[in-house]
Amino acid sequence: MPKRPQDATPAPVPRQSDTPGAPLPDEVTPLLGNRTPRQFMRRYWQKKPLLIRQAVPGISAPLARDELFELADLDDVESRLITHFRNTWNLEHGPFAPDELPAVKKREWTLLVQGANLHDDRAHALMNRFRFIPDARLDDLMISYATDGGGVGPHFDSYDVFLLQIHGKRRWRIGVQRDLSLKPGLPLKVLQHFEPEEEWVLEPGDMLYLPPHIAHDGIAEGECMTASIGFRAPSAHELTAQFLYHLAERADEHAEGARANTRYRDPTQEPVGNPGALPALLVERVGAILANVNWNEKDVAGFLGTYLSEPKSNVVFDSPERALNEQKFAERAKKTGIRLDRKTNLLYDARSYFVNGEAAMLSSKLKKWLPELADTRRLEAKRFVTLTDESSMTALLHEWYRAGWIQMGAMA
Ligand code: SIN
Ligand code: CO
Repeated sequence: MPKRPQDATPAPVPRQSDTPGAPLPDEVTPLLGNRTPRQFMRRYWQKKPLLIRQAVPGISAPLARDELFELADLDDVESRLITHFRNTWNLEHGPFAPDELPAVKKREWTLLVQGANLHDDRAHALMNRFRFIPDARLDDLMISYATDGGGVGPHFDSYDVFLLQIHGKRRWRIGVQRDLSLKPGLPLKVLQHFEPEEEWVLEPGDMLYLPPHIAHDGIAEGECMTASIGFRAPSAHELTAQFLYHLAERADEHAEGARANTRYRDPTQEPVGNPGALPALLVERVGAILANVNWNEKDVAGFLGTYLSEPKSNVVFDSPERALNEQKFAERAKKTGIRLDRKTNLLYDARSYFVNGEAAMLSSKLKKWLPELADTRRLEAKRFVTLTDESSMTALLHEWYRAGWIQMGAMA
């Protein structure tokens, strides 16, 4: 991903020390095995696995088993059931009514629930501990539930992942494997020749960080739950396709512009006896039109901001049932503060901000508070009072409140 010029980014707002969430870049933290995020990023991130005992001491599962099963029953939640009964792998996609899940006494099955952070404040708070990595890279917090012997089989992922044990025990075996061939004919990706090199049993609070492509297999020892904090790393192919789509959309928006007038013309076309043949002149001229397609860093940043802040297709925002009018909203916010909804993605750079897939200019007025809201995901009551002269702020936040993008109260 392109680096943003350091000096073009608004200075980060220092976080208050009582802000729950991610460690600061130079703060030693048990989350990373008494390392600082800077040390972790330099030595391990995208480089090598790290086992961290008691990364989150005293942790309890953010959702109880039955609450997780309830999530898996919802239409807007992505869930998968993987069974390994009689030595046969099987995969089904949710939603699952409670009676569609195997009995919890039955061995060797696992339920994976994606995006738990979008639906539960405790899961969201747990994911926020990892915000020493940019939001643009964070994907979601998945929770898996497994009965004894359950797992998804030895495999590798294309993304970095923190595997945090949140309930019960799981035996992890990992290996830097050359042979990444998969067992054929299975509904899920299971390695054909898994050769583990290291092995640990993780207990609640223990965590394993894996960079992409490290082969791994986690098998539940008794009933267990694991939270996977996953990252997004779009492929070059996906980025190219999406960027070209973004450029095309923008070209449509500016259809009155000069480039749109460069329509294909062929005043020198000769008559042909082979009408099926693609004319060389056409290829040449279209090549010349395409050679005029150009973009700059601003277009790339605009693309990334909109693309990476776009909620997943199954995300639905809940607007308030009886929305306060703007004045009442401001009065309430001055007492309670506001916070971004769990599902809201808010990114910014020096020029623009991007909220849930929409881009807008970051004016100097907005710069006073919007980067702070994006970084801390909240504006406390006191802060709201200080900023309240900014009528543009109240109007914009009221619009977001009506869309269900922000919630009243600085704390969930
Ligand atoms: C799991 O939690 O069961 C699977 C997570 C993974 O291996 O990526
Ligand atoms: Co995995």
